Amino acid sequence: MGIVEREREAPRPGPGDIVVRVRAASLNKRDLFILRGTYPLRTREGIVPLSDGAGEVVAVGDRVTRFRVGDRVAGSYFARWRSGPLSLDLFDQLGCTLDGMLAERVVLDEQWAVRVPDHLTWEEAATLPCAAVTAWNSVAGSQPVLAGQTVLTLGTGGVSLFALQLAKAQGARVIVTTSSAAKVERLKALGADAVVNYAEEPEWSRRVREATGGVGADRVVETMGPDTIEQSMRSAAFQAQVVLLISRGQEKPDLHISADAYRVTMATIRRVFVGSRDDFEAMNRAVAVSRLRPVIDCTYPFARAREALDRFARGTSFGKVVITFS
Ligand SMILES: NC(=O)c1ccc[n+]([C@@H]2O[C@H](COP(=O)([O-])OP(=O)(O)OC[C@H]3O[C@@H](n4cnc5c(N)ncnc54)[C@H](OP(=O)(O)O)[C@@H]3O)[C@@H](O)[C@H]2O)c1
Repeated sequence: MGIVEREREAPRPGPGDIVVRVRAASLNKRDLFILRGTYPLRTREGIVPLSDGAGEVVAVGDRVTRFRVGDRVAGSYFARWRSGPLSLDLFDQLGCTLDGMLAERVVLDEQWAVRVPDHLTWEEAATLPCAAVTAWNSVAGSQPVLAGQTVLTLGTGGVSLFALQLAKAQGARVIVTTSSAAKVERLKALGADAVVNYAEEPEWSRRVREATGGVGADRVVETMGPDTIEQSMRSAAFQAQVVLLISRGQEKPDLHISADAYRVTMATIRRVFVGSRDDFEAMNRAVAVSRLRPVIDCTYPFARAREALDRFARGTSFGKVVITFS
């Protein structure tokens, strides 16, 4: 499956819908999996891709109460998941089972959208729905990280950088791993208290333990899965929480944790899948108060969307890859 450009009639809102003029969209791993046909959820043929996008409301249906023309909004990843726990009947996702945000104008049920913080540019606002909400849920959902606790994040992809920024906004100490010496200063400028090079030190949990006086991290935001879970568990404090974002890799279908790692920690593993509309709105309040600015790696115009996907697929970006609409 690839991207095909299509002309469609300008959309009109149904009674409970809003029409959004999309100003920017952003990319996530899931979008690549969908385009390659490897995403586990069945997607509709001809679907408009991408879960993440932000824009202004240009028309509203007769029964719309949540928004007015001119409001700045983004779609919520799980369109039907408003609050509480996720369940299988709430699994519809923008850009997967429902049309997504890679279009000049989109129609959304008003319940599927949230207002975005005023201080963000369109490009910044477009980065929030998947990576930022996932990071928020990882550090602020179920037993939020407390000020003074230590959070460990892995690498410099979109989710990890949001987790770093959001954890700092909550007063946490943050340790980050990266394979790149060139990224260390940028991570410190974002607030990282310690940076560990996992390429130089395969047993990088030792460095994390050293940086925490032997105690380990209270929260590990595990963005990699099979390749890193062993070191993540060894980095975790005795009663830590390890937030697991992927549970299998393409080459390693099983998540292997050694008996020795179980010996050094009693950490709870919590699985997170993005978050609800309530999570998105709670995060937006935190982003607004802390004046957080999302990290954008690069921006491409809509006409060069394929190049944006290629760039993101290389997996070397520092933060988010964004597509803009004029
Ligand atoms: N469960 C959920 O709700 C959810 C939501 C969103 C994303 N995800 C998943 O989370 C993962 C991260 O996604 P993303 O878009 O933020 O980032 P990404 O683009 O997948 O991350 C790329 C970065 O990962 C780092 N990396 C690669 N191998 C690593 C390793 N062995 N140890 C530590 N870091 C490593 C590299 O950082 P350096 O260059 O600094 O080394 C690289 O820049 C993806 O697998 C995605 O599918 C899950």
